[in-house]
Formats: sequence, structure tokens, C-alpha cells
Amino acid sequence: ITNSLAQAVRAIPDFPKPGVIFRDISPLLNHHFRETIDMLSAQFSPEEWAEIDAIVGIESRGFILASGMSYAQNKGLMIVRKPGKLPPPRHSVRYTLEYGEDELQMATNLNPQRVLIIDDVLATGGTLLGTCELCTQCGHEIKGIGTLINLPGLNQFAWPNTPVRSLFTY
Ligand code: PRP
Ligand code: MG
Repeated sequence: ITNSLAQAVRAIPDFPKPGVIFRDISPLLNHHFRETIDMLSAQFSPEEWAEIDAIVGIESRGFILASGMSYAQNKGLMIVRKPGKLPPPRHSVRYTLEYGEDELQMATNLNPQRVLIIDDVLATGGTLLGTCELCTQCGHEIKGIGTLINLPGLNQFAWPNTPVRSLFTY
């Protein structure tokens, strides 16, 4: 199954900038959404799931996966948003991206929870690092991080005492 899922990720060279290989997950979402959610969920053991209260999804591609996992695992959903979308009270972090710089925000009015952070791609790690900082600022305890794709050649991402599990490594 992992193999047919892997083949459904399209690699587009030089998008959106020269030198960047864009990983298009649209065919994967279209043809294999449920298997994808199940495989990503299975990266975490029942014991690990028992300690997770909520899934954190990162706008916008992370939302898709985090929503599916939230439903499948019957966990709460939290959203990390791009700037200008979220009313106060909120925390903000600036972060660097494979192709640019941006800001992420998270609401501070939820009670502290044990969270699993989900995104589609781990590239430079800027997005996940910013999200980990946001979760910590908001009082949430990070129990795990999951991505569909990890590009280890682009990052040395690590967050203390937190497993990062990915389905595909390129
Ligand atoms: C992409 C991708 C990850 C992030 C990975 O998101 O969905 O969130 O980049 O890159 P990094 O590890 O270098 O931070 P992007 O902000 O391009 O937008 P989108 O999710 O809204 O499509
Ligand atoms: Mg994204």
C-alpha cells in the first residue's frame, strides 16, 4: 500500500521557484485519502494515541490531513493559521519557509492540551519549528509530529523528546 501511495505523489521540478522540487499530494488526496489517513495514524501506537487530546493542523495543506485524522481517531482539532485570519487572543511566530518567510498564529483561548502536530511536508522545518513554538507558547504539550513527506536533505528538524514520523522520505 505504501508503494502505491508513494506513486500518487507527483514531483514537479522548479516550482514555485527554480531549484525547488514541489511535491504535489493532489492525486494522493483524490485516490487514496482514507488509506493515507489510516497509514499516517498508524505511525503512532495505541499507547501514544491514548496520550493525545487533539490534532494540530497547519494552514492550509495540513488542515486536510489533520481534519481526517481528527475524525478517524476521534480527537479534537486545533488550527494554526496564516496571518490576518485569526482574531485575538492569539500568539504569533515568524518563520522561514523553503520559498519565503511568513507568520503563523494560534489562538490562546483553549485550555492546555496534549497535541499531535500534523502537516503534509517537512522541508526546511521552518513551519514545524514555528508551530512547535506556538503550541508551547499556548501551553500545549507536544506528544508527536507527523508528516506525509520528509525531505531530510533540507532539514535537521528535531523537537526535544518528540518523535517525528513520516510516510515518505525523499
Ligand atoms: C508548505 C507545506 C508545509 C511547508 C513545509 O506549506 O505545506 O506546510 O511548506 O516547508 P518548510 O518545512 O520549509 O517550512 P506552504 O506554506 O507553502 O503553504 P500551504 O500549506 O498553504 O499550501
Ligand atoms: Mg503548508
